[in-house]
Amino acid sequence: MKVLGILGAHKRDGITAKMLTTVLAGVPAPNETELLFLEDYDIKPDTGAPNPGLDQIEEKLLASDVWVIAAPTYIGSLAGVMKNFFDCLRQRMGRFDKTGAIHPTKFKDKHYLSITSCYTSTVENVLTGATDNTFKTIDKAMSLAGLIKVHELVLTNSFGQTELSSAKKDECTRWGAKIATKQKRDDNTVKRYIELFFMVAIMALVTMEIQRLINPTLVGGKFWLSFSTFVVIFYVLLAAILHFMTVMKHKRK
Ligand SMILES: Cc1cc2nc3c(=O)[nH]c(=O)nc-3n(C[C@H](O)[C@H](O)[C@H](O)COP(=O)(O)O)c2cc1C
Repeated sequence: MKVLGILGAHKRDGITAKMLTTVLAGVPAPNETELLFLEDYDIKPDTGAPNPGLDQIEEKLLASDVWVIAAPTYIGSLAGVMKNFFDCLRQRMGRFDKTGAIHPTKFKDKHYLSITSCYTSTVENVLTGATDNTFKTIDKAMSLAGLIKVHELVLTNSFGQTELSSAKKDECTRWGAKIATKQKRDDNTVKRYIELFFMVAIMALVTMEIQRLINPTLVGGKFWLSFSTFVVIFYVLLAAILHFMTVMKHKRK
């Protein structure tokens, strides 16, 4: 398998680049890795004219199984060079329907890992979500193209940092090794709905037992009939809402 690192930053050798190269170095042989520095390419939107820069990148994207998207957080969001790349790639992300919605095609089911860095401290980032917009923008673009997320890595307190701490190095190396094993589609939807059913059943049982302790008449005489009908009805309604909020709502975007 091939892992492609995509760096969208001002600096080729900054701390974000170090995170990316450490992840790539962690990818075990015989898997291949390649690093692409977006600033080396002339990235333009498709307007009918030849677009060799984007063609070259698209070839690399198609030839790899995992993309490692690395970009610093600039002005509270994704670094512009990476955003511009996503904006220009959008036309090629999939099939457009008559409403302009994209349906993933050629990149569908590849995997990605995202990386960002910021000056913001760890505590402030946890409290204020300084890097949230960066990751959200990456996730939005990747979901349009149909990629599956593996993980995200963040480096806070980046001001003045020129080398990664050994803990960060280990984390990046570990994820480099892990992404090489993500080959198949890991669609856990069915598993998640089954887990949800058992969660609903257990919570209903505990709730009804507590109700019974408080006042036995609250749950009625036919305990198990009340329990099973409650679980089924509640589960179906909850699953329908979740399905609407995730699958249907996304389709409308
Ligand atoms: C144009 C620009 C905007 C930035 N905006 C932010 C910001 O909003 N929040 C923040 O925490 N750091 C911000 N930073 C700091 C970058 O996140 C920092 O330069 C980056 O972590 C360093 O990565 P690098 O060494 O790979 O360039 C900004 C830096 C630049 C150059």
